[in-house]
Amino acid sequence: NNNQTPFEAIGGLDTVEELVEAFYNRVQAHPDLAPIFPDDLTETIRKQKQFLSQFLGGPPLYTEEHGHPMLRARHLPFPITRKRAEAWLSCMKQAMEEINMESPYKEQIYSRLTMTAHHMVNNPE
Ligand code: HEM
Repeated sequence: NNNQTPFEAIGGLDTVEELVEAFYNRVQAHPDLAPIFPDDLTETIRKQKQFLSQFLGGPPLYTEEHGHPMLRARHLPFPITRKRAEAWLSCMKQAMEEINMESPYKEQIYSRLTMTAHHMVNNPE
Protein backbone atom coordinates (compact mmCIF):
# COMPACT_ATOMS: atom_id res chain seq x y z
CA ASN A 1 0.00 0.00 0.00
CA ASN A 2 1.11 3.50 -0.92
CA ASN A 3 0.95 4.91 2.60
CA GLN A 4 3.44 2.40 3.95
CA THR A 5 6.97 3.39 4.83
CA PRO A 6 9.77 1.26 3.31
CA PHE A 7 10.28 -0.05 6.88
CA GLU A 8 6.71 -1.38 6.97
CA ALA A 9 6.77 -2.56 3.35
CA ILE A 10 9.78 -4.85 3.87
CA GLY A 11 8.37 -6.42 7.05
CA GLY A 12 9.42 -4.10 9.89
CA LEU A 13 12.05 -4.69 12.57
CA ASP A 14 12.30 -8.46 11.98
CA THR A 15 13.43 -7.88 8.39
CA VAL A 16 15.82 -5.06 9.34
CA GLU A 17 17.40 -7.39 11.92
CA GLU A 18 17.76 -10.22 9.40
CA LEU A 19 19.31 -7.86 6.86
CA VAL A 20 21.81 -6.42 9.32
CA GLU A 21 22.90 -9.88 10.53
CA ALA A 22 23.39 -11.10 6.94
CA PHE A 23 25.27 -7.88 6.10
CA TYR A 24 27.80 -8.03 8.97
CA ASN A 25 28.50 -11.72 8.33
CA ARG A 26 29.77 -10.57 4.95
CA VAL A 27 31.59 -7.51 6.32
CA GLN A 28 33.41 -9.71 8.81
CA ALA A 29 34.56 -12.00 5.99
CA HIS A 30 35.56 -9.19 3.58
CA PRO A 31 39.33 -8.62 3.30
CA ASP A 32 39.01 -4.83 2.74
CA LEU A 33 36.37 -4.21 5.42
CA ALA A 34 37.16 -6.56 8.31
CA PRO A 35 40.43 -4.76 9.28
CA ILE A 36 38.69 -1.44 10.07
CA PHE A 37 35.82 -2.96 12.11
CA PRO A 38 36.04 -4.12 15.74
CA ASP A 39 36.47 -7.87 16.25
CA ASP A 40 33.30 -8.00 18.31
CA LEU A 41 30.50 -6.60 16.15
CA THR A 42 27.75 -6.91 18.78
CA GLU A 43 27.47 -3.17 19.42
CA THR A 44 27.98 -2.23 15.75
CA ILE A 45 25.14 -4.58 14.78
CA ARG A 46 22.87 -3.18 17.48
CA LYS A 47 23.48 0.41 16.32
CA GLN A 48 23.02 -0.44 12.64
CA LYS A 49 19.64 -2.08 13.38
CA GLN A 50 18.60 1.11 15.16
CA PHE A 51 19.91 3.31 12.36
CA LEU A 52 18.40 1.41 9.44
CA SER A 53 15.01 1.28 11.16
CA GLN A 54 14.86 5.06 11.22
CA PHE A 55 16.54 5.48 7.80
CA LEU A 56 13.68 3.44 6.30
CA GLY A 57 10.95 5.45 8.02
CA GLY A 58 10.49 3.24 11.08
CA PRO A 59 10.85 4.26 14.73
CA PRO A 60 13.77 6.68 15.46
CA LEU A 61 15.64 4.13 17.58
CA TYR A 62 19.12 5.40 16.75
CA THR A 63 18.43 9.06 17.57
CA GLU A 64 16.58 8.16 20.77
CA GLU A 65 19.74 6.55 22.13
CA HIS A 66 22.64 8.32 20.38
CA GLY A 67 21.34 11.68 19.16
CA HIS A 68 21.69 13.01 15.60
CA PRO A 69 23.37 10.36 13.41
CA MET A 70 25.98 12.75 11.84
CA LEU A 71 27.11 9.71 9.90
CA ARG A 72 29.93 11.31 7.95
CA ALA A 73 31.43 12.76 11.14
CA ARG A 74 31.09 9.45 12.99
CA HIS A 75 32.97 7.71 10.15
CA LEU A 76 35.89 10.17 10.06
CA PRO A 77 38.06 8.05 12.43
CA PHE A 78 37.98 5.24 9.84
CA PRO A 79 39.77 5.44 6.47
CA ILE A 80 36.89 5.03 4.01
CA THR A 81 38.15 4.77 0.46
CA ARG A 82 36.05 4.41 -2.70
CA LYS A 83 37.08 0.79 -2.76
CA ARG A 84 35.72 0.26 0.77
CA ALA A 85 32.46 2.04 -0.13
CA GLU A 86 32.02 -0.35 -3.07
CA ALA A 87 32.84 -3.31 -0.81
CA TRP A 88 30.26 -2.11 1.76
CA LEU A 89 27.63 -1.82 -0.99
CA SER A 90 28.45 -5.23 -2.41
CA CYS A 91 28.00 -6.83 1.05
CA MET A 92 24.67 -5.00 1.36
CA LYS A 93 23.45 -6.12 -2.08
CA GLN A 94 24.32 -9.74 -1.31
CA ALA A 95 22.64 -9.51 2.11
CA MET A 96 19.46 -8.17 0.47
CA GLU A 97 19.51 -11.08 -1.94
CA GLU A 98 20.20 -13.59 0.82
CA ILE A 99 17.11 -12.52 2.77
CA ASN A 100 15.01 -12.39 -0.44
CA MET A 101 14.08 -8.73 -0.10
CA GLU A 102 11.41 -7.93 -2.67
CA SER A 103 11.42 -5.51 -5.57
CA PRO A 104 10.97 -2.60 -5.84
CA TYR A 105 12.03 -2.02 -2.21
CA LYS A 106 15.36 -3.77 -2.70
CA GLU A 107 16.33 -1.46 -5.57
CA GLN A 108 14.94 1.68 -3.91
CA ILE A 109 16.72 1.06 -0.62
CA TYR A 110 19.95 0.04 -2.35
CA SER A 111 19.91 3.23 -4.38
CA ARG A 112 19.56 5.41 -1.26
CA LEU A 113 22.32 3.46 0.47
CA THR A 114 24.58 3.97 -2.56
CA MET A 115 24.34 7.74 -2.15
CA THR A 116 24.96 7.51 1.60
CA ALA A 117 27.94 5.17 1.14
CA HIS A 118 29.60 7.49 -1.41
CA HIS A 119 29.07 10.41 0.97
CA MET A 120 31.10 8.52 3.62
CA VAL A 121 34.27 8.40 1.48
CA ASN A 122 36.90 10.38 3.43
CA ASN A 123 40.22 8.97 2.26
CA PRO A 124 41.81 9.20 -1.23
CA GLU A 125 43.30 5.65 -0.89
C1 HEM B 1 29.81 2.61 12.10
C2 HEM B 1 32.53 1.54 8.25
C3 HEM B 1 29.03 3.13 5.34
C4 HEM B 1 26.07 3.38 9.14
C5 HEM B 1 30.85 2.23 11.30
C6 HEM B 1 32.15 1.80 11.79
C7 HEM B 1 32.91 1.51 10.73
C8 HEM B 1 32.11 1.74 9.55
C9 HEM B 1 34.34 1.00 10.73
C10 HEM B 1 32.55 1.72 13.28
C11 HEM B 1 32.09 0.42 13.86
C12 HEM B 1 32.17 0.46 15.36
O1 HEM B 1 33.09 1.07 15.91
O2 HEM B 1 31.28 -0.10 15.98
C13 HEM B 1 31.82 1.90 7.12
C14 HEM B 1 32.33 1.81 5.76
C15 HEM B 1 31.38 2.29 4.94
C16 HEM B 1 30.23 2.66 5.78
C17 HEM B 1 33.70 1.28 5.34
C18 HEM B 1 31.50 2.40 3.45
C19 HEM B 1 30.99 3.43 2.78
C20 HEM B 1 27.90 3.29 6.10
C21 HEM B 1 26.59 3.61 5.59
C22 HEM B 1 25.77 3.69 6.67
C23 HEM B 1 26.55 3.41 7.85
C24 HEM B 1 26.25 3.79 4.10
C25 HEM B 1 24.31 3.98 6.72
C26 HEM B 1 23.43 3.44 5.94
C27 HEM B 1 26.83 3.23 10.27
C28 HEM B 1 26.33 3.39 11.61
C29 HEM B 1 27.41 3.17 12.47
C30 HEM B 1 28.55 2.89 11.62
C31 HEM B 1 24.89 3.74 12.02
C32 HEM B 1 27.42 3.27 14.00
C33 HEM B 1 27.78 4.69 14.38
C34 HEM B 1 27.91 4.84 15.89
O3 HEM B 1 28.97 4.51 16.43
O4 HEM B 1 26.94 5.26 16.54
N1 HEM B 1 30.86 2.18 9.93
N2 HEM B 1 30.56 2.40 7.10
N3 HEM B 1 27.84 3.17 7.47
N4 HEM B 1 28.16 2.93 10.31
FE1 HEM B 1 29.35 2.69 8.72
